[in-house]
Amino acid sequence: MVKIAVVGSASMDLVVTSPKRPKAGETIIGHSFSTVPGGKGANQAVAAARLGAEVSFISCVGDDDYGKRIKENLQENGVSTTYVETAANVHSGTAHIILAEEDNSIIVVKGANDLITPELVKKAEEVLKQADLVLIQQEIPEETVEYVVEFCSKNHVDVLLNPAPARKLRSEVISEVSYLTPNESEFELLFGGQRKSDVLKQYANKLIVTEGKNGVRFHNGLEEVVIPCYKVEVIDTTGAGDTFNAAFAVAKAEGKSLVESLQFANCAASISITKFGAQGGMPIRDEVDRKMKEMRS
Ligand code: RIB
Ligand code: NA
Repeated sequence: MVKIAVVGSASMDLVVTSPKRPKAGETIIGHSFSTVPGGKGANQAVAAARLGAEVSFISCVGDDDYGKRIKENLQENGVSTTYVETAANVHSGTAHIILAEEDNSIIVVKGANDLITPELVKKAEEVLKQADLVLIQQEIPEETVEYVVEFCSKNHVDVLLNPAPARKLRSEVISEVSYLTPNESEFELLFGGQRKSDVLKQYANKLIVTEGKNGVRFHNGLEEVVIPCYKVEVIDTTGAGDTFNAAFAVAKAEGKSLVESLQFANCAASISITKFGAQGGMPIRDEVDRKMKEMRS
């Protein structure tokens, strides 16, 4: 079993399905409401565990009911919560999601995720050092992301930064990460104004741009490569990026090539979007292996 450490957010997703998004000042009637565990960090931890990795999660929840449910859900999915702290007098992170027929939109309220400080992460330094790969995203303070990336780079541990939600990154951070996986709008914010092909070449084998239904693009040192994605019936794309990142991390940690790892990640993500909820539909290992075989034959 490969060891993956995830540093990141854990939230409760409050999801409303609705025929459309209300305009400013408008009230409309929606279809349904559910609360399901989410948060980019927790989603990635759960996805990696379902795919067969030994996962330690470093995070923080509030001392509320959501916090209890978030932790239970992680444990039910086989994620180690030794370094998931419960902070007093704060609410757990929440994500307020409108799943409209044409698209979804999300407001994240960080809550306890803002308390994932470098000090909190330091308690888990041994876990980071022993990991085959460390996964991190941006629903936590910027200084924590920088701390983790620097720590991993100094200790020669591979670190994948999923720069979501988008925010500017210092160039040192980009040079220290092993993999950076923006989607197209995150890419624009990070490298806007520069030619995509030039940036991909500059960060060959590191920068992986996810382009939704057009697949995934990177430069292998010789040429640009696109890994197409699988066509499926879309129910809910929330968390597809998280499944993609976790699956890529697991495959890479297992020693698979970049191309193989990205095919595996695309396949896992495509399965995840066929069911409701960020974690609903996240596949177990067998499902992905079976589907990949099917596609090859
Ligand atoms: O990446 C998907 C996640 O982003 C959701 O689960 C929600 O929590 C938002 O933060
Ligand atoms: Na899903």
